[in-house]
Amino acid sequence: MSLLLTPTTLGPLSLQNHMVMSPMTRSRAIGNVPNALMATYYGQRASAGLIVTEGIAPSPNGLGYARIPGLYSQAQVEGWKLTTAAAHAGGARIIAQLMHTGRVSHPLNMPAGSRVLAPSAIAAKGQMWTDQSQMQDQPVPEAMTAGDILAAIQEYVAASQHAIAAGFDGVELHAANGYLIEQFIRPTSNQRTDSYGGSIERRAKFVLELVDRVSTAIGSDKVGIRLSPFGTFNDMPLYDAMEEDYAYLAEQLGVRDILYVHVLDHSAGGAPPVPDAIKATFRQHISRLILAGGYTAERAEADLAAGRGDLIAFGVPFLANPDLPARFAAGAALNAPDFTTLYSADAKGYTDYPVLA
Ligand SMILES: Cc1cc2nc3c(=O)[nH]c(=O)nc-3n(C[C@H](O)[C@H](O)[C@H](O)COP(=O)(O)O)c2cc1C
Repeated sequence: MSLLLTPTTLGPLSLQNHMVMSPMTRSRAIGNVPNALMATYYGQRASAGLIVTEGIAPSPNGLGYARIPGLYSQAQVEGWKLTTAAAHAGGARIIAQLMHTGRVSHPLNMPAGSRVLAPSAIAAKGQMWTDQSQMQDQPVPEAMTAGDILAAIQEYVAASQHAIAAGFDGVELHAANGYLIEQFIRPTSNQRTDSYGGSIERRAKFVLELVDRVSTAIGSDKVGIRLSPFGTFNDMPLYDAMEEDYAYLAEQLGVRDILYVHVLDHSAGGAPPVPDAIKATFRQHISRLILAGGYTAERAEADLAAGRGDLIAFGVPFLANPDLPARFAAGAALNAPDFTTLYSADAKGYTDYPVLA
């Protein structure tokens, strides 16, 4: 008996199964505005219980990658309505992932007048793709002033309100994978000496203020968050107090009782394993927990049966298999992903993956 494929609920949302489509940046939003091609892509995958969209910038300052969408203009709200309608028509619920890239960025990817911002003026090692000049070193960001922090929080609040206006069932704060929120959480990227830097209570202030302000604006039952404890992506090295820091976050998020916490384990991709103890701490504090990272149907069933998580998210498998739940139900083979078209600009490798006959 498959738990994965049976209906369930997530707070106020009824879901047609326990499967989540993981957030995946696909760089098809020409001009940073979501379009009909993107609605087709999400609509094809609407047999998921829950879709979490690709990372969406809450403001022009958050547009670190080429051709990623935003949620700060009326044109973007209108564009997203196509996607939310397509997802709902297929029976899925859909959440907008709000991703401010912070220092993981390049000015060539950003509109005129925007700024590369981060908690401290420390560049992320590594390079960024730009359509104009291919790979470029990531720049030294500007350290955010107190005013910049207030403005960024206000941008997330406004983007969350726009998400609801566009028909989304809620938002997910992207606090994983080395982007702005994680840049505040981690001591290597946050060396501030004001109330947003120092102890974990201070490094967590930005994310917890965001959770509280966005919850006040749209309702705590519409707010999820994604974290990647022990993730090292985007120049986020391990450090001694990592486990204690994420235990503090689990406890603080548990008290807030938001829609869900989504924990991504990068170990299947070669990153350090996430200790079982930290996963158990999240399970202890969080009543609606989504687990992600390298899942097969078998491992998903086992983790659901053991109560280790409430929903399981699939990334690459959903990208290459629009009918992933039907394939799991049939025990059918999966399409292989085409890694050359992950971030290209058109329909090839995006909306042309075949479904079962
Ligand atoms: C093409 C691609 C783009 C991604 N973009 C995002 C993103 O925008 N936001 C995010 O939180 N994770 C992103 N991820 C990570 C996935 O959500 C997922 O957690 C990861 O692929 C591991 O899960 P999987 O093994 O099921 O694919 C991306 C992954 C891929 C392959």
